[in-house]
Amino acid sequence: MSHTGKWPRLAAVAASAVVALSLAACGSGGGGGGAESGAASGGGAGGTIKIGFSQLGAESGWRTASTESIKSSLTADKGFDLTFVDAQQKQENQIKALRDFIAQDVDVIAFAPVIETGWDEVLQEVKDAGIPVILVDRTIKTSVDKSYVTHIGSDMASEGKAAGEWVKKNVPDAKIFELQGTMGSGPQIDREKAFDEVVGADKILGKASGNFTRAEGKTAMEAALQAHPNMNLVFAHNDDMGLGAIEAIEAAGKVPGKDIKIVTIDGVRDGLQALVDKKFNYVVECNPIFGEQLAELVKKVAAGESVPEKTVVEDKAFDQTITQAEVDARAY
Ligand code: AHR
Repeated sequence: MSHTGKWPRLAAVAASAVVALSLAACGSGGGGGGAESGAASGGGAGGTIKIGFSQLGAESGWRTASTESIKSSLTADKGFDLTFVDAQQKQENQIKALRDFIAQDVDVIAFAPVIETGWDEVLQEVKDAGIPVILVDRTIKTSVDKSYVTHIGSDMASEGKAAGEWVKKNVPDAKIFELQGTMGSGPQIDREKAFDEVVGADKILGKASGNFTRAEGKTAMEAALQAHPNMNLVFAHNDDMGLGAIEAIEAAGKVPGKDIKIVTIDGVRDGLQALVDKKFNYVVECNPIFGEQLAELVKKVAAGESVPEKTVVEDKAFDQTITQAEVDARAY
């Protein structure tokens, strides 16, 4: 459905702002974008909603599961006309996608930002076009006031904290190497800060980025094993890098899960299988299956209804007591 231009939409924003902002004031805090609801002229009243979604890439098992959840929720039979664009982990591709969505005059834009900064110019353009934005998965830092309506995703700091608490309790003599996600991304920044605060900086021998991919995680780990032969624990910011680390550790003649313990975040099937196989020691979940919740938000935003500033996706954690049956029953 095409909308009727930015002025009716902006009027709707103003009308809903009071309700939305009071929700934000008692909510869980968050990205600082703003809590206004958006377009009155989208498809909320029964028409098709034109939505542009910029996915940041396909770098991990988590991302694949996220994409599947989004695509299977924003379908034509549910009232969505989805344009989905994969940015291949490049911010410039995401910026181009957002500009294309403006040109296509979509009702709602949603995007999972690859890094936190560098969005001001394009978000100002989106705001000037009167198109409401939903931030998905990762967070941003921007000086553009009320540049997005709402954010849905996990609490990345809580995940890092949970990983750190397990290490502190179970491996008091930990000598840690940290495999960081994409530098400058929300999960890298938040997980690292929270984990480091819990375990203490003196426990960390070194850090390197594996860009959230298995291949780069393996390469980073190979170098780390040379530089820090005394390490006894790896904290990987996602499962895929932890799985790459297993390959590097085994190639170096050591036993993952014993000689070098591995703590990761995500909980994709391959990661949980590594727990069953005793090669991972602890996995904090980052649940990617929130496509249906996103679809509900898109409908409300397109209809100009107020939405919460933030929707936090629930996560669990798993240790080596997980069973094969639980892993097999996993949706992703
Ligand atoms: O933003 C979520 C993170 O991005 C996941 O932990 C990771 O696997 C993905 O690449």
